[in-house]
Amino acid sequence: MDEQQARERRNELTRYASRFWAGEAEIARTFFSQPRAPEEHLRWLRVQAYKELQPRDDGIILRNIEQLARNYPSLEKGVGRADFLYNIQFLEEEFRHYVVFADVIDYITGGQLTTEELATYDIEHERELRAVRKRCFERHGELGRFASSFCEGGGASIFYEGMQIGGDELSDRIAAACANVYNDEMDHAAHGADDLNAIARTEEDWELAKEMVTEISMQRLRMRNEEFGFPLSDGRLLEIAEGQVELPARFEELLV
Ligand SMILES: [Fe+2]
Ligand SMILES: [Fe+2]
Repeated sequence: MDEQQARERRNELTRYASRFWAGEAEIARTFFSQPRAPEEHLRWLRVQAYKELQPRDDGIILRNIEQLARNYPSLEKGVGRADFLYNIQFLEEEFRHYVVFADVIDYITGGQLTTEELATYDIEHERELRAVRKRCFERHGELGRFASSFCEGGGASIFYEGMQIGGDELSDRIAAACANVYNDEMDHAAHGADDLNAIARTEEDWELAKEMVTEISMQRLRMRNEEFGFPLSDGRLLEIAEGQVELPARFEELLV
């Protein structure tokens, strides 16, 4: 498979996965479409802050810190400076995402957030999502890892929808937090797609990647639905998975 064919397969996968990202948008939009009391916002904000920080031993922040420390001696000897810089930037971004959502939580509660309390918001479908991703990696190595990063952020859909709200102090703060995260998450997904593009080199690879993207994205829908208190029915999630959803034009940005 040449460069051009691989790029076409990548774009095909992006167009296919867009239904799931549109589904994440529908979940958030349905939640935001009704006036919500500050307490009603707390749940998803805490789930999201947990997801950004992942305060546990195998969480993303700690793993990245350890990876940076481990790679440092190999800088310019196997570890390129551009990759090292990307990791630093990635770490800054994910930690900042935690900060902006934690700040909104503190604004609502008056501020007594602890990482222990946040850890109680590691919801069932988020744990299951981690298990699905882990299985992909264990079974298919790098292809599994990059199929997983391809799905990162879910089209940044909940942030995009969150950016649209406003009109009162809390909604304005939520919108600002979501705007802070949005571009980073679009980049993370693009980076994941670049990585996948670089290693998926046969029709079989792309077929396998599509299977993994389907499984991960379906589980992401369940996770988002739980995060926002189940605004959509299971039946609606299945319709979305079958492609019965309108695709926003903004996903075309991810085509190469
Ligand atoms: Fe993030
Ligand atoms: Fe991210």
